[in-house]
Amino acid sequence: MSARVENVGILAMEIYVPSTYVDQTELEKFDGVSKDKYTIGLGQSKMGFCSDREDINSLCMTVLKKLIEKNDIDLHDIGRLEVGTETIIDKSKSVKTFLMTLFAEAGATDIEGIDTTNACYGGTAALLNAVNWVESRSWDGRKAIVVAGDIAVYDKGPARPTGGAGAVAMLIGPDAPLYFDGIRASYMTHAYDFYKPDLASEFPYVDGKLSIKCYLSALDNCYNLFCAKMRKVDPKFQGLMSLDAMLFHSPYCKLVQKSLARVSFNDFLNASPEDREKEFPNLSRFSHSTREDSYFDRDVEKSFMVYSQKLFEEKTNPSLHIPRIVGNMYTSSLYGSLASYLVSKYPKDLIGRKFALFSYGSGLASTMFSINICKDMSDGSKLTKLLNSLNDNVVFLEKRQAVQPKDFAKIMEVRTKHYRTAPYTPSGSIDALFPGTYYLVSIDDQRRRFYERKPLEV
Ligand code: ACO
Repeated sequence: MSARVENVGILAMEIYVPSTYVDQTELEKFDGVSKDKYTIGLGQSKMGFCSDREDINSLCMTVLKKLIEKNDIDLHDIGRLEVGTETIIDKSKSVKTFLMTLFAEAGATDIEGIDTTNACYGGTAALLNAVNWVESRSWDGRKAIVVAGDIAVYDKGPARPTGGAGAVAMLIGPDAPLYFDGIRASYMTHAYDFYKPDLASEFPYVDGKLSIKCYLSALDNCYNLFCAKMRKVDPKFQGLMSLDAMLFHSPYCKLVQKSLARVSFNDFLNASPEDREKEFPNLSRFSHSTREDSYFDRDVEKSFMVYSQKLFEEKTNPSLHIPRIVGNMYTSSLYGSLASYLVSKYPKDLIGRKFALFSYGSGLASTMFSINICKDMSDGSKLTKLLNSLNDNVVFLEKRQAVQPKDFAKIMEVRTKHYRTAPYTPSGSIDALFPGTYYLVSIDDQRRRFYERKPLEV
């Protein structure tokens, strides 16, 4: 191989979210915080979680199997499988190697790719690797699959309501209804904002305020560089105004709304004095504000949130459906946002659209990149199929079961207590799992993990 390929991108996509959630209003009462802190203050309504029956391997197997079955994928037609996760349960053996058990059924073993880790960024790194492979000299004509998933759990305290759990699987190849144009802007640097140095614990160390500052400063850097790179190929590119949607990694929805306001603040700072007057009425008092000094400036934040409210409703808010009712899915969060935005529209209203996506992983690694939707309806049937499938995923979320915060707290205690226990047999309910879910049966005295799959409904 290989001839140059066109429009490499996402051909199909599936999302898996565990079957249980805790309601954030109930959690506010249980945690004894002020009313509306999690729902209005953080913008979250439900938080997905799983018992000790599920781990990162089972989550990723569940979503991958869904992708394979729903798209009738020939396993010999997959040449690359990439995993992005920060849910590390083995310092050596990758999640990808567990996923190979699904390929073993067909005797398919010639599959490149392995796990990538850096906080919430690993899914994007995996996706960019897969796209690069299809566009490279090494490509052999087969497709790639990217799986991103995480179990986001925090110790008791202010970060706990920003947890979540879920996984996404994406089929990557040429002539895709959602394709990449190669414009990417990255910002990578060292920070101790959120990290997991204690391998005996499932919980991260978090400096909440610093993590917000790091996220917003990464956004400033990526957005300005992204605009500069876009203008090289399209001199008329006007940043946010030239984009149909702007999607973000979502630690919690309020931060995403603040991020869109931050993008508008950047547009304001970049505008000429005349344009500022014209396009940003009543905001000229911020002409001397700087990026560095404004991360926690309430006046800047509030004024640009008011200014960008309409833009937020149009370009970002539709992407927050899954993040709001599931929580932070770490590496899969951004792709939950993408799915939410897509299902909020009819296929005909998406044709020819351009989105920017901002991926952030603490520590820190971040990239802004664009995704384009196919230009005409000749590829529309692929788009419709992708949207129908995502829509089924979203409808399925309504079938989840609400768990009382006291029971959620008990389940978290079991996960914490037995995080490193071996041999171990999980106690979490199998009945509560959705049909088709892989689950952990046992861990033996050599810490080997064994899984089964709950039968699909007939
Ligand atoms: N009604 C309405 N709003 C309220 C109420 C109330 N009763 N009480 C508080 N709030 C608001 C606060 O004013 C605040 O709003 P603001 O962000 O506009 O200032 C918000 O709710 C949160 O309350 P705080 O007291 O500021 O924050 P807290 O100390 O509870 O922690 C934090 C919030 C830092 C986000 C914490 O949940 C955390 O550490 N999360 C994990 C880290 C994280 O997600 N970082 C983001 C990027 S990194 C990543 O993706 C992991």
